[in-house]
Amino acid sequence: MNPSTDAYPIDRIRQDVPVLHELCYLNTGTVGIMNETVLASHLEAISHYERYGHAGEAATREGYETGRAAFARLLNARPEEIALTRNASDGINYVVAGLDLPAGSTIVTTTEEHPAVLHPLALAARKSGVKIRMISLDDSDEELLKSFRSAVSGGDVKLAIFSHVSCETGRRLPVNDMCNICRAYEVLSLVDAAQSLGQFPVDVQQLGCDFTTGNGHKWLSGPKGTGFLHVRADRTDLLSPSYVGDGSVEPRFDRSRFSQNGIDDSHWAFRGDAWRFEFGTRNWHLYKAIADAVRYQEEIGWELIYQHVDRLSTSLKHELAIRSGVTVHTPDSWADSCGIVTFSVDGWDGVQLAEELWQTHNIIQRRVQIPSGVRISVAHYTNEQDIEQFLTALDQIRGQASE
Ligand SMILES: Cc1ncc(COP(=O)(O)O)c(C=O)c1O
Repeated sequence: MNPSTDAYPIDRIRQDVPVLHELCYLNTGTVGIMNETVLASHLEAISHYERYGHAGEAATREGYETGRAAFARLLNARPEEIALTRNASDGINYVVAGLDLPAGSTIVTTTEEHPAVLHPLALAARKSGVKIRMISLDDSDEELLKSFRSAVSGGDVKLAIFSHVSCETGRRLPVNDMCNICRAYEVLSLVDAAQSLGQFPVDVQQLGCDFTTGNGHKWLSGPKGTGFLHVRADRTDLLSPSYVGDGSVEPRFDRSRFSQNGIDDSHWAFRGDAWRFEFGTRNWHLYKAIADAVRYQEEIGWELIYQHVDRLSTSLKHELAIRSGVTVHTPDSWADSCGIVTFSVDGWDGVQLAEELWQTHNIIQRRVQIPSGVRISVAHYTNEQDIEQFLTALDQIRGQASE
């Protein structure tokens, strides 16, 4: 394997993530690891707020807004188009529940979506009689686009939801074309960017999507419990939140409108921007830490990170492909993939293989179901030794199996 290019400061990055000396951590696709610099300032801010209560709140709102600005910058969006959420699942639910789709209308999605998409769709189907049409991702991009076009062109379709990157195989979907097809048939599009943001550029202007959701705890290595929903400015009024509270409606609260004589809601409306999904007291600091985590990777340089991850994951795919009985399920080219590499081993169930890698070899990864196999995540802090350690463990496991 070629060593890291001199320009990529992998040793410095790893010094900031000391747990990498203890663990072979290849599961950033589930949760990333926060580096010590960001963590120290995050813990200090949280401690201050918790110790001082409201007296310690002065800087918190400002910090919260830096999180919004960081997501907006990454997505090439305007801050007022970004709702700060707890995770990607929140964003998906806000759209599916917020559109108030009539019974009999259809939502199109794919069979490889995360449960964060499929469960809200099952609920919408049960509660409001919406129909769900699923397309398979078994085909080439060309075939996929054909079946997608045919699925959304029925006239009954109101919304399509699809991942930017499949959480199962790490394949990058042709979402630009999928969004164009949606626009041509006046179908709203929601891109699930949970596995793409931080892996390669996600530009909502270029994609032409109506809604995009994602989180901060995977490839951005931000705090758990952070996410966003991007709502294109002219789409905001299509979404009516199922939950509201102080902060999400206009005008600001006026008690005189709520009296024993009833509620005067003549001026009452959801806020006109993505704030309509934000209300109540929050752990404001989480979003400041997102801004810090994003800045950390920006300072390394996104292009350098992408090149590093491309080089390591491509080399990993080639190493896996030359091993007998191993099948790689992730596309080979970087343009069609990312830092996720999924493979299966003949005779091994994914759950058992993942367990063996973790329990016996200390290699943290995740099993996948389509196909039954294992998902490896190569991140900005992964190095050659991690990949070699994993391959050595895999060879031992395969060796045991054939003895
Ligand atoms: C493609 C995809 N969508 C959604 C999610 C759910 O993300 P969250 O936990 O932020 O709701 C995941 C998490 O693994 C994912 O991989």
